[in-house]
Amino acid sequence: MKKILLGFILSVILIGSSFAAEGDIKLPEPQKTGGKPLMEALSLRSSHREFSGKEFDPQTISNVLWSAFGINRDGVKKRTIPTAKNEQNLSVYALLPSGMYFYNSEANKLEIISSEDYRADAGKQTDMLEKTAMILVYAEKLGDSYSKFNTGAAAQNVGLYAASADLGNVVIGYANIKELGEVLKLPKGMQVQVIQALGYKN
Ligand SMILES: Cc1cc2nc3c(=O)[nH]c(=O)nc-3n(C[C@H](O)[C@H](O)[C@H](O)COP(=O)(O)O)c2cc1C
Repeated sequence: MKKILLGFILSVILIGSSFAAEGDIKLPEPQKTGGKPLMEALSLRSSHREFSGKEFDPQTISNVLWSAFGINRDGVKKRTIPTAKNEQNLSVYALLPSGMYFYNSEANKLEIISSEDYRADAGKQTDMLEKTAMILVYAEKLGDSYSKFNTGAAAQNVGLYAASADLGNVVIGYANIKELGEVLKLPKGMQVQVIQALGYKN
């Protein structure tokens, strides 16, 4: 009887986790305290291109996304980066082993676009990219002359979080910009600017 019960519990857990990987992912609250002091993180910020292949846990994924473009003040939709006229013309997407997602910062969740693992195809440096834990894709509004500032600020925030948490990261312009725009089904008027690869250091 005990064995049957254990088997039932195990299959419920397994079915539950595979559903989770195929759908939206509700993220844990980002950790807004701790980490290395800012001046130490600035001293450690650097690009890193050798990753271990180990996946991030949901907490780290949440922290990375919140650093990039999260809402950081209660009651107002203001963010961890400044934007011209507060227009917030930036969309952040995440490529994970379980698929491609849009970061819905207000709901603090990842909305699934596809369950395809697209990490290695995101750019030309495939050997490096396939060992990442997560790739951020920054998409900007065409015609907004300030858009690049938004991506720059978000990528720098993530670079500093990575330094603070001892993770590797690198901004990549040599990416498959057009293909990413297509597979991510970007709304008309948005285009991919750069990507940012992250992972545990090798
Ligand atoms: C907009 C931008 C595009 C970049 N594109 C690439 C790239 O395609 N591939 C790569 O390996 N590094 C890329 N980098 C990382 C730079 O090579 C790196 O920042 C530079 O060599 C300075 O090294 P550091 O970041 O360790 O200080 C890019 C950086 C920026 C800001």
